[in-house]
Amino acid sequence: MRVLSGIQPTGRFHWGNYFGAIKQYIELQYDNDGFYFIADLHALTTVRDPKLLRENVRDAALDLLALGLDPSRATLFVQSHVPEVSELYWLLMTGAPMGLLERCVAFKDKAARGIKADAGLFTYPVLMAADILAYDSQWVPVGEDQIQHIEVCRDLAGSFNHHYGETFVLPTARVLQETAKVPGTDGQKMSKSYDNTLALFEEPKDLRKKIMRISTDSRPMEDAKDPDNDHLYQLYSLFATDEQREEVRAMYLRGGFGYGEIKKRLADAADAFLNPFRMKRQELAADDRVVANALESGAKRAREVASDVLRRAQSACGLRS
Ligand code: ADP
Ligand code: TRP
Repeated sequence: MRVLSGIQPTGRFHWGNYFGAIKQYIELQYDNDGFYFIADLHALTTVRDPKLLRENVRDAALDLLALGLDPSRATLFVQSHVPEVSELYWLLMTGAPMGLLERCVAFKDKAARGIKADAGLFTYPVLMAADILAYDSQWVPVGEDQIQHIEVCRDLAGSFNHHYGETFVLPTARVLQETAKVPGTDGQKMSKSYDNTLALFEEPKDLRKKIMRISTDSRPMEDAKDPDNDHLYQLYSLFATDEQREEVRAMYLRGGFGYGEIKKRLADAADAFLNPFRMKRQELAADDRVVANALESGAKRAREVASDVLRRAQSACGLRS
């Protein structure tokens, strides 16, 4: 299966990004033809600082490689390195009904909050459709919030095919595992927008400090507690072995422990889990050419596919014979 997904380089990846998305991309690379890209064109709708954008793209690439994305199995590239996508975007724009885009939540939410939107934000789902269609993608693993965009992509591709003849492969959304919804330090969903994240490649000392500051309730120590409704326990479960998890679960059910002790256990387990990734990242970062080469060969492979699809679309709509 051709599996494709994109991730925006809008800040450092956090635990939610890893367990909710990146880990699953990496698992999919073994039995599929994975295409994964860093969505820098999409990030331009929010990141307007060129230095920061450059840094974010490099960090995203380093993070993905350190976490196990293997460029010899999957195609890893930067969205803007494939200019064919931007041309496909225009072809799709000419058939994109205004009403369809007006209904898309990313735009609708901002408009409802009185935030001025630009045409980039308004047409964001069309660029995303171009990303998907450019590579004949069959499966698109995304979080629930992106399903609407896959529907838009299917609509745009379907009506292009209907009007000009079979051109695009219609993709299917593959919803990323719900069980992986990771809570943040305040118990809400972990997200950059809530400022409650624990970054994957945080300095170990800073990470420990942040873990010690995770919010907890103020019930007496001796009370029994429900682990299933506790974000500290959920975070610990991400890193703990089955045995460790059962031990802590029993502590919750019994009561008579302090949250500080669980936080220490979480910090130790997270550290043990993240350390090999940190070492790998340091190794990769030591030589600038490693990332540059991976992205270059990724873009080459991606362009081979995208230029075929673009030619097909150009022929279908009369831009070439
Ligand atoms: P953020 O909310 O921090 O801005 P993004 O929207 O950029 O994160 O998410 C990138 C990917 O990570 C998406 O596929 C999204 O579903 C996943 N993701 C983000 N936060 C979480 C979370 N707390 N739990 C599970 N998955 C998450
Ligand atoms: N919009 C997606 C997000 O914010 C990122 C993205 C861009 C994407 N293009 C894509 C995801 C194509 C899947 C397929 O998470």
